[in-house]
Amino acid sequence: MAANSRFDLEGRVVIVTGGGKGIGKVYAQQFAKAGARVVAADIDGMAAQAVAEAIRGDGGAAIGLTTDVSNPESSHAMSEAARDTFGGIDVLINNASLMSVLPRRSWLEIPEEEWDRVMAVNLRGLFLCCRAVFPVMKERGYGKIVNISSSRVWEGNPNRLHYTTSKAGVIGFTRALAREVGEHGITVNAVTPGLTMSDTQVASSSNNYLATRLEGRAISRPQVPDDLVGAVMFLSSAASDFMTGQTINVDGGKAMH
Ligand SMILES: NC(=O)c1ccc[n+]([C@@H]2O[C@H](COP(=O)([O-])OP(=O)(O)OC[C@H]3O[C@@H](n4cnc5c(N)ncnc54)[C@H](O)[C@@H]3O)[C@@H](O)[C@H]2O)c1
Repeated sequence: MAANSRFDLEGRVVIVTGGGKGIGKVYAQQFAKAGARVVAADIDGMAAQAVAEAIRGDGGAAIGLTTDVSNPESSHAMSEAARDTFGGIDVLINNASLMSVLPRRSWLEIPEEEWDRVMAVNLRGLFLCCRAVFPVMKERGYGKIVNISSSRVWEGNPNRLHYTTSKAGVIGFTRALAREVGEHGITVNAVTPGLTMSDTQVASSSNNYLATRLEGRAISRPQVPDDLVGAVMFLSSAASDFMTGQTINVDGGKAMH
C-alpha cells in the first residue's frame, strides 16, 4: 500500500451518530470533504438532514437520518439505510451522547431517571449501534469503530457523575469489544476529547467555566472541534488497521495518560 493511501478516506462509508450538531456535525462535514460517503444520524433528524443537504450541495455524498441510538429498531434502521444507500459500512463513529443538555450539579441532585437515560444513550447506544453495523462489517471482513469518550475520565471532573461514569464505560467497552471482533478485521478504538468549544457546549456553559477548564494544558488555547478530526480520521483509516482496543487522548496535553 502506498504511504499516502493509508490515510485515504475516499469512498469510505462513515456513519456519524449525533452527526446533526456540535462536534458530530464537524466530523460529518470533514469526512465528506475527505471524500467519504457520510451518514449523519441524530435524534434531531432535521439537523442531520440539514447537514447532509449542505454536504450534497457542496458536491459530497451524504444522507441524514432520524436515529435514536438507545432504541434497537432505530439503530438497526440506521445500519440498513447506510447499507441500502451506499452498499456497505466501513466506519461507525459513536459520537451521540447526552452531554450538553445535562445540568452540571452535585451527584446528590441527579434524578435517578436522568442517570438511567444517560446510561441508555451513552452506553446502551454504543452497544446497539455496534450490534447493528456488525453483520455488515463482518460480511466484508473489515470495519472501523471509533467510540467517543471524554478526558473527564482521566481528570475525574465532578458535577456530571453519570456522564463521567458512562464515558469511563466507553473505554472498557472499547477494550472488550476489540477482542470480540478482531477476528473479523474490525478495529475498535476510543478518543477522549478535552473540553471542546462545540456550538452546543458553548451555548450551555458559562464563560467562567470554559476559561477555568483551559488551566493545565501544555497547549494553552481553547480546543475546537477541528482539533479532534485528525485523531478520529486516523482511527477510521487503514493507517490504524493493526491498532485496536486503544484510547487516544486529544486535550492539548492536559491529562498525559
Ligand atoms: N464538547 C465537549 O467539550 C466534549 C468533551 C469530551 C467529550 N465530548 C463528547 O463528544 C461528543 C460530541 O460532543 P458535543 O459537544 O457535540 O455534544 P452534544 O451534547 O452537543 O451533541 C451530542 C449530539 O448527540 C445527539 N444525540 C443526543 N441523544 C441522542 C440519541 N439518543 N440518539 C442519537 N443522537 C443523539 C444530539 O442531538 C447532538 O447532536 C459526545 O459524545 C460528547 O460526550 C464532548
